[in-house]
Amino acid sequence: MTVDGKIATTCGNSRISSKQDLIRVHELRSSVDAIIVGISTVLIDDPLLTVRIIRSNKGKDPARVVVDSDGRIPLDSRILKTAHRVTTIVVVSERAHDNKIHKLRSTGAIVIIAGREMVDLGEALSCLKKMGFKNILAEGGGELNWSLLDLGVVDQLIVTVSPKLVGGRSATTLVEGDGYEKISQAIGMELKKVLRQNNGELVLFYEL
Ligand SMILES: NC(=O)c1ccc[n+]([C@@H]2O[C@H](COP(=O)([O-])OP(=O)(O)OC[C@H]3O[C@@H](n4cnc5c(N)ncnc54)[C@H](OP(=O)(O)O)[C@@H]3O)[C@@H](O)[C@H]2O)c1
Repeated sequence: MTVDGKIATTCGNSRISSKQDLIRVHELRSSVDAIIVGISTVLIDDPLLTVRIIRSNKGKDPARVVVDSDGRIPLDSRILKTAHRVTTIVVVSERAHDNKIHKLRSTGAIVIIAGREMVDLGEALSCLKKMGFKNILAEGGGELNWSLLDLGVVDQLIVTVSPKLVGGRSATTLVEGDGYEKISQAIGMELKKVLRQNNGELVLFYEL
């Protein structure tokens, strides 16, 4: 994120990290079982979410999980276009139409149905656990970050603060959602480590 807490500009531009930080992120990706993102991130960034810049520790990419209540993920998104070679899971809710689910499955993606309206993350995570995905890296965006934090399932928060300011009241911040009314309700964390990168980026490692 930028110093003003934005993870994207008002236009959705989110290329904030340096190459050095991207290497760190890809190393982290290579150490987890799965990466989870919200559908807005997929619609705006069209990410691949694979391990590329470095050689993978485990020799294969982690699974990619998209929370997408209606199954809106485009069939020509980079994630679905590679679903036959990288494990891809789309978590939808009961409001997703059968024909959409059928089309998603035809790409090679696994579709999990969890929740009635919005995706029920608790149900989705226990399903992922049963499938063997225990160590999961959430890569945003702000709405998904809020839901996971509010649910109390986050044990570590790693945030790179880039020495930039972009402003914009509609620019997405690290944690969106409804938020808490009182500071006394805030989620507390313990700062475990700080990494200072050459370009002025700070990588903060918190435990919850
Ligand atoms: N700088 C970075 O590191 C970084 C990383 C990631 C993203 N980003 C940026 O963040 C922006 C997108 O973030 P965002 O906050 O708008 O959206 P998001 O978190 O990517 O996706 C939110 C959407 O996920 C779906 N969802 C389903 N179940 C959910 C649940 N239980 N909790 C939360 N979401 C659920 C909802 O859409 P449905 O109702 O349709 O299911 C919801 O609107 C983009 O601009 C992207 O570039 C930046």
